[in-house]
Amino acid sequence: MSVVLDFSNVMTENVGTAHGLSIAEIEALLGKGREVLDDLRQKAENETLGFYKLPFQEETISEIKTYATGARKRFENYVHIGIGGSALGPIALQTSLLDSYYNLSKTPKMFFPDNVDPDWIHDLLKHIDASKTLFHVVSKSGATAETAATMLYFMKYLKDGLGENFYKNLLFTTDPVQGLLNEIARQYPIKCFRIPPNVGGRFSVLSPVGLVSAAISGIDIDALLKGAREMAEICNRDNLMENPAFLYAAIHFLYMKKNKNISVMMPYSNKLRDLADWYRQLWAESLGKRYNVKGELVETGQTPVKALGATDQHSQVQLYVEGPNDKVITFLEVGQFEHSEALDNYFPEIDEFNYLKDKTLGELLNAEKKATELALTNNERPNLTLRFDRVSAENIGAFFFLLEAATAFAGGLLEINAFDQPGVEQGKIATYALMGRKGYETKRKEILQQLEQKKTFVVS
Ligand code: PA5
Repeated sequence: MSVVLDFSNVMTENVGTAHGLSIAEIEALLGKGREVLDDLRQKAENETLGFYKLPFQEETISEIKTYATGARKRFENYVHIGIGGSALGPIALQTSLLDSYYNLSKTPKMFFPDNVDPDWIHDLLKHIDASKTLFHVVSKSGATAETAATMLYFMKYLKDGLGENFYKNLLFTTDPVQGLLNEIARQYPIKCFRIPPNVGGRFSVLSPVGLVSAAISGIDIDALLKGAREMAEICNRDNLMENPAFLYAAIHFLYMKKNKNISVMMPYSNKLRDLADWYRQLWAESLGKRYNVKGELVETGQTPVKALGATDQHSQVQLYVEGPNDKVITFLEVGQFEHSEALDNYFPEIDEFNYLKDKTLGELLNAEKKATELALTNNERPNLTLRFDRVSAENIGAFFFLLEAATAFAGGLLEINAFDQPGVEQGKIATYALMGRKGYETKRKEILQQLEQKKTFVVS
């Protein structure tokens, strides 16, 4: 495993004193960082913080592998029904580690409809036969409206195809005891994988939430967890100046204090692009909090933005280089791409193409990354690089663990609870009320009244 954090370009020596950090500033956080590390270790030990243990779950892994081997033989398609933390990690695993056009030539074909756009969902049904499809419903709470509705939508087709045997094509991943999926599973013999109660949605990618679909599509989940285990050790280093989780958190914490409230993640790799999507949720939901742990109003957080190199050099980089200096940019860089065919100049009369002769696309992509990094640094825009020696299951596992640990560290430094999401719950409750769910009648009345009183400003 080799995932390295290069933070040279946040240091004053490279990015200048106005927008750089000094070693002394980072070192001033070591005392607090030490307390946070002790607290995280204790929470991992007493099992209040479950994601630390996920890379070590041997029993679940062998159960997942056995199930996946059977599923690969039985099903032509796999449909993953979940949203947020129950979808973004699984999607990032597929896009980073499978052939980019996997579904064109391999089975089971993998689909991740993580939104309730009826046209989008319906389009999928034109291409799959429900009776030859495994529907994996993933919901920690077992109640999320989008997940429940998508499951019910597909159920019609499952029932039409399989009648009373519909449950044979269902798989649930949910809490060990609570929630509506468990109520269904008590009535029908549906296979269930469990999300440990002490693992929150956005920290669950290395649980069955992400591992089941990964194993079904043929990803090496042993390698994934091996990488995560190695990174877990690195993120547990006592010497915090050599602990990348602490450093990532400390750097972002210091910049938040300097009003750099945007964290851009910019992979220079299409395969890694959905890692930025996963990070967007992790960083936003974990750190975007109104109150700190003492109950004081803090309204803290950093807005995560995803960009893709080199594509977004032609869309976003102008803003990053010359616009407001309010961002910290993290590049994801791949040392060695799997394919490295050299280019030739098939138009020798065009001398201007000759600089590309004998170069690979990977060389060009990495030169573009270097160029963007230089442009940012020369314009005093702090940036970091997470460098993968290559795109591999081990490195992806390490990346997930590193950013989860960094998020936990950042929550500790900010003195907020990084593991709840009261803002998301508000939206969930309002949705239930608007859709007329039992038990939400008072909330519904309240909302309808509010909507009635709303002053409308519309133009057409
Ligand atoms: O991180 C979280 O907790 C959320 O994003 C959840 O994953 C998301 O809301 C889906 O919840 P559930 O898995 O309970 O359906």
